[in-house]
Amino acid sequence: AVLILLGPPGAGKGTQARMLQDKFGLVQLSTGDLLRAAVAAGTEAGKKAKTVMEAGELVSDDIVLAILKDRLAEPDTYKGVILDGFPRTTAQAEALDDLLDKTGQSINAAISLEVDDAAMVTRISGRYTCANCGEGYHDDYKQPAINGICDKCGGTEMKRRADDNAETVGTRLAAYHAQTAPLIDYYDRKGALRRVDAMGSIDTIAIDLGKIAKEAS
Ligand code: AP5
Ligand code: ZN
Repeated sequence: AVLILLGPPGAGKGTQARMLQDKFGLVQLSTGDLLRAAVAAGTEAGKKAKTVMEAGELVSDDIVLAILKDRLAEPDTYKGVILDGFPRTTAQAEALDDLLDKTGQSINAAISLEVDDAAMVTRISGRYTCANCGEGYHDDYKQPAINGICDKCGGTEMKRRADDNAETVGTRLAAYHAQTAPLIDYYDRKGALRRVDAMGSIDTIAIDLGKIAKEAS
């Protein structure tokens, strides 16, 4: 199965992808996470991506595709994938169609997480994650049971992303509306689009997505 999570920054793509991964044994593929790992490792691609990401713009299609390709090439090694933050441009969506065609896979659902821009700014500015396992938290909406200690792994170091500031969030939202939002129509025309109201609580949204994932698996 191939599920795509579409939605603006802060819509909850990462949060929900991790929950689907745990519940359904699907593999989360986040181009944002893969790019941040390349930046941290200081690879050639990572060096190019770093300044672009810090500015809140989109990294070039060729870098993103190079980083993702190998992970999608062996469908026998996974039960299904959740694409989180990819595709983000029409060129990426077309390249994905090609890649899936060649490897005998197809898209089960492209899920659009629908939210207001204003909510995004609050969600993003309160976000932090466990430095050890990557579990996501929020100052107001999702705190660990014991403050400062990760529920999942017991880690005590939390971190915030370099691009999670009010100024960059504006650029990221603009990039979403200009370059990624057209994909909603793209998948609608293919009959793969599912719209999900993503203004509710994390658990309510997880139930809606769980139903879609169940149909797909
Ligand atoms: P990426 O890492 O993909 O970031 P993004 O799209 O900006 O999305 P976020 O990770 O910010 O948000 P999310 O939707 O995952 O929300 P989350 O679950 O964390 O991309 C970063 C950069 O990399 C891009 O700007 C670009 O430069 C580059 N890039 C990546 N992919 C690319 C591509 N394909 N092409 C080109 N460039 C690419 O939730 C946010 C917060 O809200 C959390 O704290 C969470 O706890 C909380 N929360 C979640 N759901 C709810 C809820 N329902 N109610 C209340 N709080 C909630
Ligand atoms: Zn952790």
